Amino acid sequence: MVKVLVVYDTRHGNTKTIASSIADGVLDSGVTDVVIRSVGEVDEGEFRDADGVLIGTPNHAGGPTRRVRKLIRDVSGSDLSGKTIGFFDTYMGGDLRKATAKMEAGLRKRSPDANIMSPGGSFRVDRMKGPLAEGEKEKAREFGKALASRIRR
Ligand SMILES: Cc1cc2nc3c(=O)[nH]c(=O)nc-3n(C[C@H](O)[C@H](O)[C@H](O)COP(=O)(O)O)c2cc1C
Repeated sequence: MVKVLVVYDTRHGNTKTIASSIADGVLDSGVTDVVIRSVGEVDEGEFRDADGVLIGTPNHAGGPTRRVRKLIRDVSGSDLSGKTIGFFDTYMGGDLRKATAKMEAGLRKRSPDANIMSPGGSFRVDRMKGPLAEGEKEKAREFGKALASRIRR
């Protein structure tokens, strides 16, 4: 059975909301085993068993949060064969996909063979604390569907 793990960091809750919409999109695609975890609670076993892993962050000063950077370092040291990996961010101004691109580059540098779904997803908030801009949750759901269709079955 295909398993998908969605991991997020958040300060104000918007990236968590996006993680949940992405998970809904994965479920729409018929994958029934989807787990959402905050970056502090990812279980090594859940990561190992996942066929698809999505990692999301709010854009903080042009890149992922420190906790997400650490997660990517940890992930790049593990066995990624057979996994599809995707990244997503939330951002405020003109920084569309900026944090996502950095996450991709960070993983590629250490794990050149990783199967990364690129480009990643990037979802805008209207203000620092949100709310999400109109239509972003729906976009996130489509992103989840796209990830599910990319997983090697
Ligand atoms: C310390 C800090 C730095 C930030 N720097 C940026 C930035 O460089 N570019 C940007 O687009 N948004 C920036 N933001 C806005 C965040 O992207 C926004 O707060 C986030 O998407 C909200 O997500 P969250 O509710 O999951 O925390 C920053 C926010 C914080 C708290």
